[in-house]
Amino acid sequence: MTPAGSLLTASGLRKTYGPTTALDGADFSIHPGEVVAVMGPSGSGKSTLLHCLAGIVKPDEGSITYNGRELAGLPDAALSALRRSEFGFVFQFGQLVPELTCVENVALPLRLNGARRKDAEQTARTWMERLEVDDLLGKRPGEVSGGQGQRVAVARALATNPRVLFADEPTGALDSLNGERVMELLTDAARSTNAAVVLVTHETRVAAYSDREIVVRDGRSRDMERAV
Ligand SMILES: Nc1ncnc2c1ncn2[C@@H]1O[C@H](COP(=O)(O)OP(=O)(O)OP(=O)(O)O)[C@@H](O)[C@H]1O
Ligand SMILES: [Mg+2]
Repeated sequence: MTPAGSLLTASGLRKTYGPTTALDGADFSIHPGEVVAVMGPSGSGKSTLLHCLAGIVKPDEGSITYNGRELAGLPDAALSALRRSEFGFVFQFGQLVPELTCVENVALPLRLNGARRKDAEQTARTWMERLEVDDLLGKRPGEVSGGQGQRVAVARALATNPRVLFADEPTGALDSLNGERVMELLTDAARSTNAAVVLVTHETRVAAYSDREIVVRDGRSRDMERAV
């Protein structure tokens, strides 16, 4: 059963890697415009859960429904199209293409979706302004700071106007000041477009930007009541 109003829902996810049980009956659901923090110790299954939800890893058991459609029922081509057009991704180290300038990096997913260079770069510039990195348009990733690079990566993830933004430790490599700035801009931008954000983090300070927290422990998830 999909909870009412939920955009992305998972139930009973199990995933093993050889003798290792990464997920052991994990559940998840998120609404449009909601920011959910996925917390828990190292090795508890957070990234595996995110990869399953994003259709990157296939769970051994359980079901994942996006917008009323069961992911397991989609052919690979439809799944890649979904990832390209409706999902956005930010990882711990921005993973920008080093040979491209920042604006070309942000424009890349739009170009892959068929946009013309001029239009793609115009949209990219708008997103870079929003993330306050429009002074870096022509710089290459190697020439910018960690915090700036992550903001470029967030701009790239949001430029296609995704319905779900998946972020795995997006501030993990940053100091706390830069991390907070990235989180502020990321959550503001996502809320203004009504994107759902699945935010994996170790840090309580980062999770504080979410609407709701879930904790993954030994491959099982549970909702956590906010103490404040
Ligand atoms: N591709 C893989 N092959 C083998 N084992 C894996 C693979 N991916 C994850 N695992 C194992 O599954 C378990 C869960 O890993 P996962 O990466 O989901 O943890 P995590 O909560 O994201 O940890 P961290 O906070 O350190 O990133 C771990 O024991 C890990 O070693
Ligand atoms: Mg991880």
